[in-house]
Amino acid sequence: MADVSKKIVPWIMPAVQYKVDSVELAWQHPNHARMFLNENPIPPSEKVLKAIEEMARYGNRYPHRWVQLRKRLAEPFGLGPENVFLGNGSSEVIDNMVRVFCQPGDEVIIPEPTFSLFYARIEVNGAKDVRIPLRKDDYQVDIDGMINAVTDRTKLMIVVNPNNPTGLFVDDNDLRRLLDLGIPTCIDEAYLEYDPSRGSKVPLIKEYPHAFVMKTFSKAYGLAGLRFGYMFGVPELVEAFERIKLPWNVSILTLAAAEAALDDQESLKKKVEHNNRWMAIFTEEFRKLGLKPFPAHGNYMLVDANDFGYSSKEIIDMAFERGVILKTIGPIHGKNGFFRVTPGTDEENKRMLEVVKEIFSQPKAKRA
Ligand SMILES: Cc1ncc(COP(=O)(O)O)c(C=O)c1O
Repeated sequence: MADVSKKIVPWIMPAVQYKVDSVELAWQHPNHARMFLNENPIPPSEKVLKAIEEMARYGNRYPHRWVQLRKRLAEPFGLGPENVFLGNGSSEVIDNMVRVFCQPGDEVIIPEPTFSLFYARIEVNGAKDVRIPLRKDDYQVDIDGMINAVTDRTKLMIVVNPNNPTGLFVDDNDLRRLLDLGIPTCIDEAYLEYDPSRGSKVPLIKEYPHAFVMKTFSKAYGLAGLRFGYMFGVPELVEAFERIKLPWNVSILTLAAAEAALDDQESLKKKVEHNNRWMAIFTEEFRKLGLKPFPAHGNYMLVDANDFGYSSKEIIDMAFERGVILKTIGPIHGKNGFFRVTPGTDEENKRMLEVVKEIFSQPKAKRA
């Protein structure tokens, strides 16, 4: 019998996988503070729950309301439904994006670290991720490094704004320098709602038709489990995404939930305020302990704990033993003592601060 594994297209098995093992672990330990996944700790509002329940009565029907929702999302930017693509979370849009622009062997230029699903979907679709490390001095996206890495195989550029895990925004002029190259560029604004003072880059699609902007309801809107993401682009681009996607990719329940969440701006405001209040407290408390928190703008904070001598995994394991799930971060410029934390409920945040205080009460060298 032929070995079936030899029949699989050659780029699938070597591709890095996007696997968050700790999700299973978190569901198995519901009493642990769940602060590792950039989720929103506040459940959907009554308005959203009611909309889902009402729409469930039409569960025998294929989804509708696509155009209605696209119109609503586009209006604040003076755009139309032809500028909006809806996805099963922005993860789906990320996957579609690679297939829209890349043939096997083509190159995608992307910072490292950033949201790791990008690397996985680039590789599993047969393209090559050309990873450009963040700048060493300030952990900013290295735009010059990205520009210098362009070859005639470069088909796509990626900028996450603010970046995950650093929480830092890319300088506006730097972004324009990248866009001036004329290469298709994804600007991922998954976390932008957490900083209402910052304008979206969506209007740039009028000036740079090769730019497109992704957003999601998984973060500030707090609907990660319902899976709703979307993308703004020029109509030609949106049309290409429409052709790649599977039909009915967003369920009727998700569409209803997204509409209701848009109607419920008061809830959004409360969620953002909760997050930002705790992010400020985290910064203050971490600094008191001698940790170095990043000036982050999303719902996650990268913390430099390198002075204490623990590896990222050791920190995460110690926190887990004490009932708190934090996120490990791979080495950045050879340093392996970072962790990332997402604000949880008030109780979880207080517990996390106690646990972090205990862990970092002494450096590794002194711990018995
Ligand atoms: C930068 C970034 N983009 C997109 C996503 C995925 O969002 P979604 O849940 O909409 O697939 C995440 C999730 O963590 C993210 O960090």
